[in-house]
Parts: sequence; C-alpha cells; structure tokens
Amino acid sequence: MKKLSLVGRVVVLASTVAMVVVLVVATALVAILSLRRAEARESRAKDVTAATLRVENIAFDLQSSLRGYVLSGDQHFITLFNDAQTTMPVALGRLTTLVADDQEQLRRARATDGLLRAYVADYAQPVIKIRRLSPYAALSPASLDEDRRRANEIRGTLGTILAVEQQRSVARSKHSREVARAAVIVGSVALALSAGLVLLFGAWVARGVAAPVRRASSAAAQVAAGDFDVRLDESGAGEVGELLSAFNSMTRALELGRRELLEQNERLRESEQHKRDLISMVSHEIRTPLASVVGFTSLLLEREFPPDEQRRYLEIVDQQARRLASLAGDFLDVQLLEGGGFSFDYAPFDLVELANEQARLFFSHSSAHTIDVDLPSDPVVVNADRDRIAQVIGNLLSNAIKYSPSGGNVRLLLTANDGGAELSVEDEGMGIPAADRARIFEKFFRGADAASAIGGTGLGLAVAREIVMSHGGGIEVDSEPGRGSRFTVRLPRVSTPVSA
Ligand SMILES: Nc1ncnc2c1ncn2[C@@H]1O[C@H](COP(=O)(O)OP(=O)(O)O)[C@@H](O)[C@H]1O
Ligand SMILES: [Mg+2]
Repeated sequence: MKKLSLVGRVVVLASTVAMVVVLVVATALVAILSLRRAEARESRAKDVTAATLRVENIAFDLQSSLRGYVLSGDQHFITLFNDAQTTMPVALGRLTTLVADDQEQLRRARATDGLLRAYVADYAQPVIKIRRLSPYAALSPASLDEDRRRANEIRGTLGTILAVEQQRSVARSKHSREVARAAVIVGSVALALSAGLVLLFGAWVARGVAAPVRRASSAAAQVAAGDFDVRLDESGAGEVGELLSAFNSMTRALELGRRELLEQNERLRESEQHKRDLISMVSHEIRTPLASVVGFTSLLLEREFPPDEQRRYLEIVDQQARRLASLAGDFLDVQLLEGGGFSFDYAPFDLVELANEQARLFFSHSSAHTIDVDLPSDPVVVNADRDRIAQVIGNLLSNAIKYSPSGGNVRLLLTANDGGAELSVEDEGMGIPAADRARIFEKFFRGADAASAIGGTGLGLAVAREIVMSHGGGIEVDSEPGRGSRFTVRLPRVSTPVSA
C-alpha cells in the first residue's frame, strides 16, 4: 500500500477532527432542541390542565347554581347559572384549541363540549322551567339521579383528559432527559475519541517523520566522515520518502564524483610513471647506438685502417645511425598516434612484391634465422600506403627475429581471397604469455620477459595496428609461450582511401 504523504496525513487528521466536532455540535443541538420541545410541551400540558380545570369549575358552578335554585327558588342562583353558562363556550373553546393537535384529547374535549351543552339544554333549562311550575316535581329523585349521572359523565371525561395529559407530560420529560443523557454520552465519547486521534496522529507523524529524519541525520554524519557507501531505506511517507531518495541520489553522486577523482588521480600517477619510464627507455635505447657511432667515427678519424676494415667499421656506423633514425621515426609516429594525425598516400600496389622485398631486406644478413616465404604466384593488389604497409611487415619480421633469440625458422605467409589479403608472420621464439597478449598493441607496453633481455620501445605493434586499422583492416596474435607466435594482418583488397 502506498504510504500517505505528510500533507495527506494532516488532511486526514483535520477532517477526522472536524467530523468529530460536527458530530459533537450536532448532538448538542439535538439535545437542546429536544429539551426545548419538552419544555414547550410541558407548558402546554399546564395550559391544558388549567383549561380543563376551568371547564370543570364551570360545570360545578352550573350544577351547584341549578341545585341552589331548585332548593330555594332564589333568583340569585339563576344569575349565577347564567354567568356560568355565558363563560362556558369561551372555556370550552380554549380547551379545544389547546388540544387541537392531539386527536384523542380533541375527541374528549368535543365530547365534554357536547355533554355540557346537553346538560344545559336537555336537563338544566327544562328543570328550571319545571321548578317555576312545581318545586316538588323538580326535586324528584329521578331528576336528581339524572343530574348526578350527567355531572359524573362530564367529570369522568374531564378526568380522563387530565390523566392523559399528565401521563404524556411524564413520558415526555423522561424522553427529553434520556435525550440529554445520550447527548452528554455521545459528546464525551466523541471528545475522548478526538483526543485519542490527536495522540495517534502524533505517534504517526513521529514514526513517519522523526525516525527517518534521525536515520538521515546519522547517515549524513557518516557521509561527512567520508563514507559514501551509506544508503537509506527509501520507504517513507510521501515527502519523507522523496527526501530519503534525494539523499541517496546525493550520496551516489558524491560516490561517483569521488571515484572519478580517484581514477583521474590514478591516471595522472600512471602518466607520470609513464613519462619517467619513457625518459629512461629513450635514453637507454639511444645510448647504445650513439656510443657505437661516436666510438667508430673517432676510431676512423684517429687512425688509418686498411680499406676492408675501414668499410666494416663504416657499415657498423651506418647500421647504428639507421637504428637511431628508425627510433626517431617511431617517436614521431607516437606523436601522430596520440594526435590522430596519421595521413596516408593511397595507391594500388602488389603486396606479393612488397612482402618479398621486406623478407630479403631482413634476412639478407641474418645467419641465425632461416626464412620460409610462402607467397601466391599472382600479384595481390591492394590500394594502400605502400611505405606504411612496409613498416607493418618490417615491424612483424623484426619482432620475429628479435624475440627468437636462439634463432629458428620464420615463416612469411600471404593468402588472398575475394574479401582481401591475409599476411602472417610466424616464429619459433619465446612466445607471449596470455596475460600480455591483450596489451601488446598498447603503446609503450613491453612484455616482462622481452623487456628484461631485449631492447625495444613498445611502439612497433601499436603503430602497426593504427596503420592497419586506418586501412580498414585488422591485426591479431596467436601465441604459445616457449613455442612461438603468429601475427596475422588482414587488409581489404581495395581499401577506400581515407585521404589522398
Ligand atoms: N614475435 C614476438 N614474440 C614474442 N613476443 C613478442 C613478439 N612480438 C611482440 N612481442 C611482445 O610484444 C611487445 C610489444 O612489441 P612492440 O610493440 O613491437 O615493441 P618492442 O618490440 O619495441 O618491445 C614486445 O615487448 C614483446 O613483449
Ligand atoms: Mg618491436
């Protein structure tokens, strides 16, 4: 499940608390309204009771004034009777209005109304008339019974109205008390709940923010102490997770930067070492031929020698001077290698002829080695820089001789197919350890065995590879330490000129 962001958490808390507050307020409102309604009903119940008692009083006045008149014949009672009769409709009307919303009570009020009017019209007025005619007839037991019966009936209905009203009022006040109690309970529970929620939210924020921030700060201390490998668990709520992942990106970037610096440093150190090696190698490589040249020329200048001896010394001087020239050429080539400034004079020529020429050149005066040349009878024409290809073949042949110190056979092989020409130089020399094979085409690299015993610059193969690759070809080595090596050069039959 995706963790909620901090903003999300705050929104959740705020809306929950808001809901709780709304709930509390709503319950309080309900309770207040219910109490208000209960109060209103209670005062109405009082009014109904008062109105009922008023009607009861009138009924009593009617009955007692009628009795008084029947017994005494005093006109004063008739006045009282008439007064009661006049106030009767108002009192009845008030009662009916008050209970208008209650069907049962309304029915009872109307019944009372009917009974009272019937008492006046059907009983009291006829009795008054009879009294005027015959006092004794009006006082007959039957008439008195009728009076009692009607009065009881009226009192009974009014009593029911009073009792029902009382009962309702008790039930209502009980209900409103219950509502008030429920409101208090709901309100307290909701308040306790919201307090709990706030506490929980605090814990939630602490867990979601404080803990990761603490982890981040201790990791930052580690980074400050130089440990860039430290990584944080990126699981965190929204913005916190983003912060942690940004922290990790930062340490990754720092680590990368540091590694780059270290590598740069290492390269600088290597190139410094390289420079030192180069200087010592150059001085060493130059010293030997230079010593020969200087030594033999001063010898020739100081003394007279017989012509054949003189010629032998001059040949040595020539050979060493050529070696110096070739060294100078190699260093020039390195500069071209580094600057990428090799340029070639492309022209079609016969590779068979060039291979023959190089073989003759290198083996004309080597007595320790034999050469085995295996070339096609037909010309193999390539479009290339003849001098540079001669340099490649020369480098391979000179290595084959140089790294077969105890002599042996060297094979120069040329084959041609539709794709191109393939030229290999094989020797029976010291061979190249597997670990060195990948590096011998690097400039200045020299195999440890070779470097310890045999002079060289480590440039020949680097230059050869650059030339061959620039011609769209390739160079490979195959070797077995102690048994010999084979270098193979492939050249496309007709190369596309890189420059004229
Ligand atoms: N024919 C070979 N037999 C054995 N090792 C060879 C041969 N040719 C080249 N190497 C190894 O490759 C290295 C690089 O050769 P090269 O670039 O010609 O430089 P250099 O001959 O001046 O050392 C040599 O130092 C040597 O260790
Ligand atoms: Mg070499």
